[in-house]
Amino acid sequence: MASKLTLTLPTGQIMPALGFGTWQATDAELEAALTAALEAGYRHIDTAPVYENEHVIGKVLHKWLSSGKIKRDELFIVSKVPPSGNRPSGVDKWIKRSLKDLQLDYLDLYLIHTPFSFEEVGEELHPVDKNGEIKLDKSTNHLQVWAEMEKQVAAGRTKAIGLSNFNMEQINKVLTVTKVPIANLQIELHVYFQQRELVEYCKKNGITVTAYSPLGSRGLVKLMGKVDSLPDLLANPVVLKIGERRKKTPAQILLRYTLQRGIAAIPKSTNPERLKKNIDLFDWELTAEDTDELDALDQGSSARICDFGFFKGIKNHPEFPF
Ligand SMILES: NC(=O)c1ccc[n+]([C@@H]2O[C@H](COP(=O)([O-])OP(=O)(O)OC[C@H]3O[C@@H](n4cnc5c(N)ncnc54)[C@H](OP(=O)(O)O)[C@@H]3O)[C@@H](O)[C@H]2O)c1
Repeated sequence: MASKLTLTLPTGQIMPALGFGTWQATDAELEAALTAALEAGYRHIDTAPVYENEHVIGKVLHKWLSSGKIKRDELFIVSKVPPSGNRPSGVDKWIKRSLKDLQLDYLDLYLIHTPFSFEEVGEELHPVDKNGEIKLDKSTNHLQVWAEMEKQVAAGRTKAIGLSNFNMEQINKVLTVTKVPIANLQIELHVYFQQRELVEYCKKNGITVTAYSPLGSRGLVKLMGKVDSLPDLLANPVVLKIGERRKKTPAQILLRYTLQRGIAAIPKSTNPERLKKNIDLFDWELTAEDTDELDALDQGSSARICDFGFFKGIKNHPEFPF
């Protein structure tokens, strides 16, 4: 069986290819869901301060780690510098806060969440002016922020560092200064938006790729006001047909397809049955006939869900990536 269950980072670390997404869940939902996810075998957990739930994840992890049910080195924990901390002085401050909330001594991977930055206004994650426009910090300097990220590896607070939502040009610029490799790029990626050029570019440069919204996140589609223009991936007739052929759910087809491309995926679910099925991907595979049909569903960037339009005025930032 040619299943690819893990990705090897340039640091030599092994990252489970299927991770658990934690955005858009209430504290109570997440506590129950993460417990169910750990029981179902998830070991890669994706989080960020902007999801405002790292304290909940910390509570669950502490329970598992202190009871000896799991060892720290069996987990792969990812967090991110928020846009409001995306400046050299923010990196140290925010990684320490994430570690405190997660009740951990180190992260496995720390990402710069977005290439753009917001002003630092107290503790606000998304500072806005009186017109509701997001307060942009246009002085973003990726090279200086990356140098601070590298210091976190040296200090032992994270084992690897990477980027999220950066475009090729922005990654290229960071690559000119890296002493510690860019281990991972986390981007929106699903069957309608396959990101072939960016994935190829990352492969050439030794950067692993993680797909966010791999199921085409209906929650995010609604938030972005794109319900009419972006049809539900989980109801796509081709996906349903392949699911019937393989006796798998549409979500399993979409996730297995992503993993077979050598890309990690971090689906979110707070439903115990669904999250169990979403990780049941490793004793079967899609055939070339299946993957050819799924390849043909790509619509390119017109199928992008997350263009950060929920931050009013975001396109005025010089590092807006899309
Ligand atoms: N780096 C970034 O900027 C960024 C941006 C967005 C997301 N992310 C990360 O990526 C993770 C995943 O992305 P996402 O949450 O946007 O989208 P997603 O994983 O594509 O979709 C999540 C949605 O699908 C539903 N779902 C999950 N499994 C299902 C199944 N088997 N059948 C039917 N529906 C199912 C979930 O509902 P239920 O919970 O009810 O099952 C939820 O509404 C996030 O949680 C976050 O960790 C990162």
